[in-house]
Amino acid sequence: MSLLEPLPSSASASQLYAALVDALPDPILVVAGSRRDDLTGWRFILANAAARELLRLTADEGRLLSAVRDPAVLGAVDKALFDVADAESAYETTGAQSRSLRVRARPLGIGPDGLRLALLTYHDETEVRRVERTRVDFLANASHELRTPLASLSGFIETLRGHARDDPAAREKFLGIMQAQADRMARLIADLTSLSRIELDEHVPPRGVVDLGMVVREVVEAAAPLGAQRGVKLDWRSCGAPPTLVRGERDQIVQVVQNLLDNAIKYSPDGASVRVEMQGGLSELAAAAGHDGVPRLSLVAPDPSQETYVALRFMDLGPGIARQNLPRLSERFYRVDGQKSGARSGTGLGLAIVKHIMNRHRGGLVVASAEGEGSAFTVYFPMAGDPEGVVKAS
Ligand SMILES: Nc1ncnc2c1ncn2[C@@H]1O[C@H](COP(=O)(O)OP(=O)(O)O)[C@@H](O)[C@H]1O
Ligand SMILES: [Mg+2]
Repeated sequence: MSLLEPLPSSASASQLYAALVDALPDPILVVAGSRRDDLTGWRFILANAAARELLRLTADEGRLLSAVRDPAVLGAVDKALFDVADAESAYETTGAQSRSLRVRARPLGIGPDGLRLALLTYHDETEVRRVERTRVDFLANASHELRTPLASLSGFIETLRGHARDDPAAREKFLGIMQAQADRMARLIADLTSLSRIELDEHVPPRGVVDLGMVVREVVEAAAPLGAQRGVKLDWRSCGAPPTLVRGERDQIVQVVQNLLDNAIKYSPDGASVRVEMQGGLSELAAAAGHDGVPRLSLVAPDPSQETYVALRFMDLGPGIARQNLPRLSERFYRVDGQKSGARSGTGLGLAIVKHIMNRHRGGLVVASAEGEGSAFTVYFPMAGDPEGVVKAS
């Protein structure tokens, strides 16, 4: 019986019980067998809806071998039926969407017809495994990223103690490199710490109200010297009055603006300009992003229940990003090949940080870019208060 068929109002206890078993979200099977060596005689005498779907069964009873073929799972059944002991086993399903399943077998005693009975329950561990793998990869990547500058530091210390000892010019040069490597390690640690803090409260909505235009002004002014070093001009004329209020946490919004501006400057050719544009009161996100003909991809999709947004866009005339690399941009430590070293080297964590902050703010992140065409990164923040009131609130 499925829950889709309503129970009669006079449902008996056994009808209720059957409906309950069928409605359980985890697959369960009841298995019966009389002799240990008669595998083909083992049967399942109950399979709930979840089990029928998982094991692709057309009936709720039948030969056990038609439902369960994994030898380790059959071993667990054997143990539960004939050793009368709990047993468990894990296996992966094959097919396009492979899943990790843990199966527990537990003796149920002897049935009315003298058959031994056992209960099989299935637990889907796919998500747990995925999270575990992500964590292991993350640790491996983080240690690798720290090991590189550390190895370089150790190497230069050795050189300074050895043949460069009495060579003041070489010493100066090496100390400069060492400083840069130490700075790099400090940046990595700062980004890692910040990422883990952001992830920790990613599910707690931010409370404050922030004037986005003010944040842009502050961050752009602070970045002016960085741009000036390479003759990069920062054009942010459209980001001024009236105040544009968004819901969010100020420090995190500053981090978003800093990271996107930093990338735009870093990837700009010397002497080019970076444009920062702000546009409020948007309800139609699609119309707002990207220039025509350039591939665009949404890396964070905004919460559709929000009403109006402010878009903040950073445009540069840098090398652009090939279409196939767009989906990976916000992965931790991902950097486009060929940009991993030299003046443009970064931690590869900036866009991952931006992504998590935008998730928390129920905002959006869209990139539009093509090789040789520059890049435009746009973030969308939900506007604070009622959309009419925002502008009038000044
Ligand atoms: N404005 C941009 N122009 C070209 N490539 C970019 C731009 N922004 C980001 N990228 C690419 O995305 C990668 C990830 O960016 P990010 O997470 O900020 O790391 P980082 O800046 O530390 O390298 C960069 O390494 C770079 O390859
Ligand atoms: Mg960056």
